[in-house]
Amino acid sequence: MRKKDYGLRVNKLFHIKTFGCQMNEHDSLKISALIKPLGFEETADPLQADLVLFNTCTVRQKAHDKAFSEIGKVIAAEGKRPLIGVCGCMAQEEGVKLLHRFPEINLVFGPDQIYKLPELLEIVEKEKRPAIATELINSAEDYHFLDTLEATRLNGPTAYVTIMKGCNSHCSYCIVPKVRGTEVCRPARDIIRETEFLVEKGCKEVTLLGQTVNSYCNDGVSFAELIALISKNTGVARIRFTSPHPKDVKDDLIEEYGQNPKLCPHIHMPLQSGSDAVLKRMRRAYNTTTYSAKIEKLRAARPDIAISTDMIVGFPGESDAEFQQSLDFIKGIGLDAMYAFKYSPRPDTEAFGMADDVAREKKEERLQRLLDLQNNLSKSKNETRIGLVEEVLVEGADKKKRGRFCGRSSHNRIVNFAGQEGLIGAIVKVKITKAYSNSLEGELWKN
Ligand code: SAH
Ligand code: SF4
Ligand code: F3S
Repeated sequence: MRKKDYGLRVNKLFHIKTFGCQMNEHDSLKISALIKPLGFEETADPLQADLVLFNTCTVRQKAHDKAFSEIGKVIAAEGKRPLIGVCGCMAQEEGVKLLHRFPEINLVFGPDQIYKLPELLEIVEKEKRPAIATELINSAEDYHFLDTLEATRLNGPTAYVTIMKGCNSHCSYCIVPKVRGTEVCRPARDIIRETEFLVEKGCKEVTLLGQTVNSYCNDGVSFAELIALISKNTGVARIRFTSPHPKDVKDDLIEEYGQNPKLCPHIHMPLQSGSDAVLKRMRRAYNTTTYSAKIEKLRAARPDIAISTDMIVGFPGESDAEFQQSLDFIKGIGLDAMYAFKYSPRPDTEAFGMADDVAREKKEERLQRLLDLQNNLSKSKNETRIGLVEEVLVEGADKKKRGRFCGRSSHNRIVNFAGQEGLIGAIVKVKITKAYSNSLEGELWKN
């Protein structure tokens, strides 16, 4: 049952449901940091909340539909209705149309308007009308890079730090540039200040965040230089980033991998397809030859580097032969991990105008074949770690099995092991004893 005493002014509770990628996860933290000072406390139970926020995704139709159905559920629940806010990429895409579909919604705001949330809440409260803000901000002067300082407790020993927003690429399948606007980069000194603050709070590892994170350039500071600056000027032990674009993996970044021990030996290199013809139709700005050359250089600079990727199957016109090229390429290049998706047509993208002509069953079958292939490759890659001692940042305890802990190796592999209390947040040595496709198992090594 929903909470009966609907008191908006005192002891207000909010619940936030987050869909989509790391950018949204991080935006939800920023939202919490903004509204906690207004007297809101977070609750895990939407039925108890005075304000329910949906931080949505629209990268594929399924994500879009999921957000709609979750909003519908909260509206349909019995009891006093909470204030309902929809933000994130689906809110940006739909805008005022959301209010036509669900007149019960009180707030609609896009990713670039998060900073306005306190103002928008005031409009809802005082003027008793829905508040909407979906402007995209494309200039550095006007953009608000909010950090999650003070109000948000650091969650474990890892944290995200936003370094840029938006995307200037035009991948023909992708809706992200439409809903996240063009690239805006944050000044290096602000990034360093936020990182140092997090380190003081116990953070050991930061993940630099941006839609095309490695196209970062601010006031002459390149992405590789930013990593070097963070390493030099903060006490952070590990630096990661997501998600980079292969076209912006430049020589200076590759060199940084070769010389900076704080930069974790892992890179996510979204390939999308192993067929040059498909890559061209996708407007990915590289081909398999240039992609392979970059992988080779990365491996030469940091021989143990782990590489993960994203793939799309069933892009318009993808023939059996083109899909086979993806299988062959993936087999040949031997990456460590993969996320793979069935192509989903998105409105207002270039590919939306192309026939979505690969049947659903065929997409399903291709996805399965690609994932099966990668599972075997990942398992063999993971097996090469058996007997080695990995440095693991301990992120948490197993909720089901007492005395079992979980962390990540610098190569971004999940490592499970037996240990004692007090290890969370520490970087420990673990000797690897077993390998699976998605994780490793090991024993604590003399630390
Ligand atoms: N900014 C990131 C990723 C954005 S979306 C980048 O450029 O790498 C994350 C992944 O979703 C993409 O890498 C792609 O594999 C997948 N994706 C994006 N649009 C899609 C679509 N229309 N259908 C299926 N998968 C899609
Ligand atoms: Fe989308 Fe391409 Fe931009 Fe990534 S680089 S967000 S896939 S348009
Ligand atoms: Fe989804 Fe937006 Fe991220 S569309 S994948 S939440 S950038």
